[in-house]
Amino acid sequence: MKPTDAIRHAGNVDAAGHVRGESIYLDDLPEQAGTLHGAVFASPIAHGSLRDLHRDAARAAPGVIAVLTATEIPGENQIGGIVPDEPLLAAGEVHYAGQPIAVVFATTEAAARAAVKLMTADIEPRSAVFDPREAARLGHLIVPPRSFRIGDLDAAWSQCAHVFEGSAETGGQEHLYIETQGAYAIPTEAGGLRIHSSTQGPTAVQRTAARVLGIPMHRIEVDVTRLGGGFGGKEDQATPWAVLAALGAWRLRRPCKLVLHRADDMRMTGKRHPYASDFKIGLAADLRILAYEVTFYQDAGAAADLSPAVLERTLFHHTNSYFVPNARATAYSCRTNVVPHTAFRGFGGPQGMFVIEAAIARAAEALGIESAVIQERNLLRDGDVFPYGQIAARCNARRTWEDLVSRFEIAALRQEIERFNASHATEKKGLALMPICFGISFTKTFMNQASALVHVYQDGSVGVSTAAVEMGQGVNSKVAQVAAHGLGVGLARVRIESTNTARVANTSPSAASASADLNGKATERACDALRARLLAHAAVMLGKAATAAGGSPAGAPAAGLAVRDERVYDGDTPTKIAWVDLVRAAFLNRVQLTAQAHYATPEIHFDWTTEKGHPFAYHAYGTAAIVARLDVVRGTYVIESALASHDFGRSMNPIVDRGQAEGGIVQGIGWMTMEELMFDAEGRLRTNALSTYKVPDIYAAPERLEVHFLDLEGPPHAILGSKAVGEPPLLYGIGAYFAVRRAIRAANPKADIAFSAPITPEKTLRALHGARFAARRAAPRPTRAHAP
Ligand code: MTE
Ligand code: MOS
Repeated sequence: MKPTDAIRHAGNVDAAGHVRGESIYLDDLPEQAGTLHGAVFASPIAHGSLRDLHRDAARAAPGVIAVLTATEIPGENQIGGIVPDEPLLAAGEVHYAGQPIAVVFATTEAAARAAVKLMTADIEPRSAVFDPREAARLGHLIVPPRSFRIGDLDAAWSQCAHVFEGSAETGGQEHLYIETQGAYAIPTEAGGLRIHSSTQGPTAVQRTAARVLGIPMHRIEVDVTRLGGGFGGKEDQATPWAVLAALGAWRLRRPCKLVLHRADDMRMTGKRHPYASDFKIGLAADLRILAYEVTFYQDAGAAADLSPAVLERTLFHHTNSYFVPNARATAYSCRTNVVPHTAFRGFGGPQGMFVIEAAIARAAEALGIESAVIQERNLLRDGDVFPYGQIAARCNARRTWEDLVSRFEIAALRQEIERFNASHATEKKGLALMPICFGISFTKTFMNQASALVHVYQDGSVGVSTAAVEMGQGVNSKVAQVAAHGLGVGLARVRIESTNTARVANTSPSAASASADLNGKATERACDALRARLLAHAAVMLGKAATAAGGSPAGAPAAGLAVRDERVYDGDTPTKIAWVDLVRAAFLNRVQLTAQAHYATPEIHFDWTTEKGHPFAYHAYGTAAIVARLDVVRGTYVIESALASHDFGRSMNPIVDRGQAEGGIVQGIGWMTMEELMFDAEGRLRTNALSTYKVPDIYAAPERLEVHFLDLEGPPHAILGSKAVGEPPLLYGIGAYFAVRRAIRAANPKADIAFSAPITPEKTLRALHGARFAARRAAPRPTRAHAP
C-alpha cells in the first residue's frame, strides 16, 4: 500500500509554527516561581593540576544560592557513555580549556554569570598535546586502534601499474545549532526530577543524571519538545548541561535552568573531529583501484565521548562508493587537550571519504587525467563486497552517476568550463564529481531499536509518542504521515507528542539518520495492531462477524475491510461507517484503543573481533557535480553550482527531503571551504563567535543548487520505501574542496596544494601565489608603530 499523494505532500508539520514564531523551544517553557539559573566556571587552560578553587567571592555575590563542585555530587562524577573517562565537573586535573569545574546557581541568569567572573582557580600547568599524530606517538589513545582489511594488500602492490602516496587532513566543524545547549530541571514529588533538555538522546540524559545523582532511572523523566538544531552536537553533549541543571535541582530542591551563551557553547562543547591521515593507492593500467592503504589519526579531544563510534564509521566509509579488492584501513583515536569532539552529521564518514577522494585526485593529477575517469571506473556494483564484509545489494552508485551525467549534461558543462578558463585570465573554474555511499543503521547493532505508543482517543483523534526527537529534520512529519497512512485518517487527526522517557523508554538517540526508519517502523506496527482491532469491530458492525473481541484474534485482519480517507471500505466500496463512528463504537464495546510496538532492524549484525558482518540495513547512494569559480587575484571563490542526483528510494516527503539535501550540501560545503577552527598556542578556541567563525550564509550557498530525486523503489527496511536522508547529502560538500582545487590548478598547474580542508581563501591565495608570498615575506619590511 502506498501513501496517498495528500500524505506525501504534507510538507513539514512544524512549518506554520516556525514561521509564526510559535514553536516551543527549551527557552520558551514558562518558568516556575523560584527558578534558579546556572552558569558554568570552566578551566582557562588546557592541562593542569587543580590546586585550589576560589569560590567565596562568588558565593557572597548578590543572588547567588550555591556554587557546586565535584565534591557536591551525590553519586558518581562520571558522564562517559562509551568509556568512563569524563567527569561531570573536573576534580584533581583539568584536561582542556573550557572544561567545567563548578556551576553557580543564582536567582537570575545575570547574577550567575557575574558570579562566575568572580571565580578563579589555581591550576599548575602541565604539558599539553594538540596534535593527534603526536598523541598517537606518545601512546595517548582513547581505545586500541582498529583495522579493517580486505583481500591481500601486500601482494596487491606488485600488481599495480601506478602507486601514489600522500597525506590529507580535514578540520573540525562547529555545529552551530541555532538553539544553544540547555536544560531545565524541576523537582517533582517523592524525590523525582523532570528534566526538559535540548537533547537528541533523552535516555542518555536520564541514565547519566541517575548515575551522577545516585538514584534509579525511574525517578527521572526527560522531556523534549523539539530542538533548534542538533546536527550530532546534542547526541551526547547535551547531557552535561542537563545533568548540571539536575544536580542543582536535586541539591537545592528548586527548579534549575542552565542555558549556554553562544560563546560558552562554542568554547565548552565538542565539534566534528579533525583528522590527519596518510594514504597509499595502487591502480592497474586500466585504472581499477587494486590496493588502498590508509591510516587515520582522529583528534578525539580530552575524553572519549562518542569518538570510538565515530572512528568506526570512518573505517566503514573509507572506500566511499568504490569497490576496492585489497585494502587496509587503520584508525587511531587520539587523546589531545582540546574539548572532547563528538558526533557531527556524517559521524566520521566524511572524514574517511575525503581521504580516498584525495588519493584519487593525487593519482589523476599525476596521470594527467580527470578524477572522474578513476571514480567512474571503480564505482560499486551489486555483488561487490565492502571491506567490512557486507555485499552491495540494490546498489545505485552507477545509476546516480549516469543520471547526473546525462541529466545535467556534464560533458557540455566540462567544455563550457574549459572555454571559460581559456578565455579568462583572472577567473578560473573547476568541476568535481562526488559520488557518495552511506550506510544506514547505527553501527552498534543493539542501538537499532525503537518503540512507539499510539493512542486513538474516543473522538477519533490520534496521539503518537516515539523515541524520535524533532530537530528540524522533519521526523515528526514523517512519523505523523506513517500514522495517518497506517490508520487511514487525515494528517490533521494525528498529533506527535513530545519525546518523553516516561512514555517511551530505553531509547536510542535520534541520530545515524535512522530516526524515521526506526520510529516510523515502530509506529507502523502499533498502527497495524490498532487497525486490526478496529476492523475486527467494523466486521461486527457490518454483520460480517459475530464477535470482535472474542472471535477475532488481535492482529488478524478482518476479511476485505480497510480504512481509507477516514471511512471503512469493504473492498472498493465505501461502507456507512466513518472513522469517528468506528472509534466511538469500538470504545463503547471495550476495544483497546492504545497500542505499543517495538521495532528492531532485522538482519543486521557485526562481529568486531573479525571486523566483518552486515552492519547496515541498506545504503544511500548519490552523485553530485560541484563547480567553483575562483578569483585568481584575490583567492576568493564562489561555489557556482551544486547539482545532485540522489537516491531517496521513494521519498515519502519530498519537501522535507529536499530541505535535508539542500541543507546538508551547504553544511558540507561550509566544512570544506570556509569553516575554520583556530586554537591559540595554549589550546584556547579563538574562533568562538560568529565574527571569527564563518559559516555559509545565503550568499555562500551555491548560485545554482539542484537536487534531482531518482524515484526508485526503496528497500524494505526503509520506512514506506523512503530512504534515510539526514546525513548522506552532507557528503556532496566534499566535492567543493576538489572543485576549488581544480580551479587553482587551472590558474597555476604547478600549484602546491595540500590535501587540507577547509580550503579557505587564505590557503587558496597561498597556493596560487605561493612563491611570491615566500619572496615577499623574506624581504625586510619597515616596522610600523602600532595604532593606539
Ligand atoms: N536537519 C536539521 N534541520 N537539523 C538537525 O539538527 N541533524 C542531522 C540530520 N539533519 C539535523 C538535520 C543529523 S546529524 C542526523 S543524524 C539526522 O538529521 C537525524 O535525524 P533523522 O534520523 O531523522 O534523519
Ligand atoms: Mo547525527 S551526527 O548521527 O546526530
